[in-house]
Amino acid sequence: MTGDLFAALRVPSVERIDDGAIWLRAFADEQVAVLVQAIDQVTAQAPFRQMQTPGGYTMSVAMSNCGELGWVTDRRGYRYQRDDPLSQRPWPAMPDVFVKLAVAAANAAGFDNFMPDACLINRYVPGARMSLHQDKNEGDMTQPIVSVSLGLPATFLFGGNERADKPVRMRLESGDVVVWGGPSRLRFHGVDTLAEGVHELTGQCRYNLTFRKAG
Ligand code: SIN
Ligand code: FE2
Repeated sequence: MTGDLFAALRVPSVERIDDGAIWLRAFADEQVAVLVQAIDQVTAQAPFRQMQTPGGYTMSVAMSNCGELGWVTDRRGYRYQRDDPLSQRPWPAMPDVFVKLAVAAANAAGFDNFMPDACLINRYVPGARMSLHQDKNEGDMTQPIVSVSLGLPATFLFGGNERADKPVRMRLESGDVVVWGGPSRLRFHGVDTLAEGVHELTGQCRYNLTFRKAG
């Protein structure tokens, strides 16, 4: 696919979105294949599943986790927990390539001592979306969120501190990383409905890794 040929040739660039919010274009381009392999390994242990919201809706995005803590939602609410509710066993360890990438991206965005203990893995198929929300279940709000996009492109919605604030629309491609922390840590964000497409490494899907210091 022509898009992917050009993707391999992308030049990394850094764009400030707002105070504490940085878009690192092509930051992970060279690691996409290794990251997708690592996702396959993690999700062989802790399979993707569509979780229920507290209000009883089934999320269109399928999720898994790795690291000490994993984000889950069900009728009882949103939270982090040490065990995968499907297996009652600890989430798989965070692969080294994940940790290194997350730390390097946080550093590039000016966050010096980031050490994630949770990585939420999202899988979007065409038609899936994530509505505007804040990441606010984490214990340490001094640490940023590091978000890595893999596979099909998506429109990321980066809003303000209020739900009603009009979001900026960012077209995230495979290998792009967005970091938000400091004054931007509680910004509303979401993902617009994923368009049809086929990516040479992920097929008909987009993966997103979000690294957090949850505990
Ligand atoms: C999230 O907010 O957890 C996911 C963001 C994304 O998929 O880009
Ligand atoms: Fe989020």
